[in-house]
Amino acid sequence: MTFENILIEKRGRIAIVTVNRPDKLNALNIPTRREILSAFEQLKTDDEVRVVIITGAGPKSFIAGADINEFAGMTAIKQRDVMKSGRAFDSVEDFPKPVIAMINGFALGGGCELAMSCDIRVASSNAKLGQPEIKLGIIPGGGGTQRLTRLVGEGKAMELILTGDMISADEAKQLGLVNHVFAPEELEAKTLELANKIAELSPIALAMAKASVKNAARMNLREGLDSEIDLFALCFSSEDKEEGVRAFIEKRKAEFKGK
Ligand code: COA
Repeated sequence: MTFENILIEKRGRIAIVTVNRPDKLNALNIPTRREILSAFEQLKTDDEVRVVIITGAGPKSFIAGADINEFAGMTAIKQRDVMKSGRAFDSVEDFPKPVIAMINGFALGGGCELAMSCDIRVASSNAKLGQPEIKLGIIPGGGGTQRLTRLVGEGKAMELILTGDMISADEAKQLGLVNHVFAPEELEAKTLELANKIAELSPIALAMAKASVKNAARMNLREGLDSEIDLFALCFSSEDKEEGVRAFIEKRKAEFKGK
């Protein structure tokens, strides 16, 4: 598939997906959501790619939310179909490789929701995050009420969603909504450093680790603990586990092959 609204660039084992509508602050229209969905489908089976970074084009915005122009005149049934059929954010959450949101500016509405579907969030110091949907007379529809609540707790999520206020990158870090804040000129290098560190590890173990952490929000504690044992045990069927253990014993760096 050729893409009109996103760019995909590979740097070694890292793929960088860039939403490329900078004159609209990278607002997510329906075609862009579809392209994100198919880009992740494509990257899923690309064995060269171990970690994905998602970001927005231009210096100002990660993603400024859903494209509000599409809401004008939109019916309830059509909007529900749009959200249910193109579950791009869920596909990022379920993607079997680590995904890092590189938040280079506004991450609002669907932008904040997409970032929260990622595994790690890294922000530039000038980033602004929020769920401003309430100001449009609507509520978050791409996971905002669910993922924000899980990430920062009900009290703070409620305040952000009920006021629609934006918060700074530093505030987001204090809340646990972003992992790291970097100066804008350092953001890409620092994010790539983090991505490359993860990309050196076993992709099999990374997939198991991601699935198991995600289970914490999907299962009760007993189910989660049982499932963790299964996923932990499954790692023992990989060549990477033998390599990792042997490399430790032989005091050398492990070379993981994803087998
Ligand atoms: N949907 C559609 N277009 C959007 C958009 C969105 N979510 N966010 C920004 N844009 C467009 C603007 O309409 C403007 O387009 P134009 O130049 O054709 O008029 C362009 O992007 C630049 O935005 P602008 O508002 O001029 O920039 P700003 O720096 O003054 O303000 C924001 C930046 C992010 C505060 C402001 O654009 C905004 O509030 N956007 C909407 C955020 C939102 O509510 N998101 C949730 C949607 S559910």
